[in-house]
Amino acid sequence: MATMRRIAVLTGGGDAPGMNPAIRAVVRTATAAGIEVYGIRQAYSGLLAGDFERMSNRDVSGIIQRGGTILQTARNLEFKTPQGQKRGLRRLNEHGIDGLIVIGGDGSLRGALALHTLGFPVVGVPGSIDNDIWGTNMSIGVDTALNTILDAIDKLRDTASSHERCFLLEVMGRNCGYLTLMGGILGGAEFIVIPERESTLEEIGQALEDAYMRGKSHAMGVIAEGASLNIDEVATYLESHEIGFEVRVTVLGHVVRGGRPSAFDRLLATRMGVAAVEHLLANETGIMVGLQGREIGTVTLEDATTKQRSVSLEYVNMAEFLAK
Ligand code: F6P
Repeated sequence: MATMRRIAVLTGGGDAPGMNPAIRAVVRTATAAGIEVYGIRQAYSGLLAGDFERMSNRDVSGIIQRGGTILQTARNLEFKTPQGQKRGLRRLNEHGIDGLIVIGGDGSLRGALALHTLGFPVVGVPGSIDNDIWGTNMSIGVDTALNTILDAIDKLRDTASSHERCFLLEVMGRNCGYLTLMGGILGGAEFIVIPERESTLEEIGQALEDAYMRGKSHAMGVIAEGASLNIDEVATYLESHEIGFEVRVTVLGHVVRGGRPSAFDRLLATRMGVAAVEHLLANETGIMVGLQGREIGTVTLEDATTKQRSVSLEYVNMAEFLAK
C-alpha cells in the first residue's frame, strides 16, 4: 500500500452551506499530518482541465462562516463517460495526487465511485441540501437550508395572517421531499406535498376550506419542486374553488442553497472533513463518511450511490394531525 504524500479535494454538484468548513477541516487535518493538499476548482470540470491549486492552512482562513464553496462547483457531463473518468484519473496522476476527497451530492459521489473502481483511492463526504444520500442521517447543508425555509415560512405567515391569505411555498430538493416535509411540520403548514406521497387537488382544497371554517386566520402549503402536483396547478385550482382564503405563491428557489452555515452544519462538516482525511491516510477508501447516530461512521460508495434513502412515513402521518 502506497503512503499518501499528496491529496486533493473537490466540491461537486449543487453547493451546500457547510462545504467551506469541510474544505477547511480537510486542509488543516492533512497539513497537521504532514500531507500536501491540492484544491481542484469547479469539481470534475476542473479535474479534467487540470485546474489544481496547492492549499495551505492560510488559504482556508476566514471561510468557516461562509456559504457556497471557495473551490466552486460545476455539473459536468463528460465526467459521466468512461472516457472522461479515465482522463480524470490521468490528470490526478499527472499532478502526483495519491488520494482524493469528494464533497458533494449523489452525482459527485457516483463520480467518486467511478474513480475508485478504476483503482484510485477516494473518500466521499455527503454535501447536498436535499438530504437524499443513503448512509448518513444528515448531509452537509441540510440544517442550514431548513433554517432558511423556516425563516421564509415565519415571514410569510406574518403577511398571510394580516391579509387572511393562503400562501403556497415551493421548496427545492430535487426528487426528495425531506426539506419540504420537515419545513412544513416545523413551520406549521396546513398541507405538504412531496414526491414520496400522492396528493390530490381535491384533498388540498378540502383541507384549506376546513381550516378556513375552523377559524384559521391564514394557511400555508409547502410543495416540493419534485412533487407530481405543480405549485401553479395547485394555485389555479384553489383560486377557482373559493376556499375562503385568497391565494399567493412564493418560489424559494436557490435562496435555500445560500447563507452562513448553521452551527450544526459547521460541526458536521468539520467532523466529516477530519474523518475523511483520517480514512484516506489509513488507506480506507471507496467509502463515504456519514452521520450514524451521534458518530461519524462509513458506508461503501457503492451503497451510498445505489441504495435509496426515503423520508419516514411516520413524519408524513405526524404532519397531518399536527396541521389540524
Ligand atoms: O441538489 C441540490 C439542488 O439545489 C436541488 O435541490 C435542485 O433540484 C438542483 O440542485 C438545482 O440545480 P441547479 O443549481 O443546477 O439549477
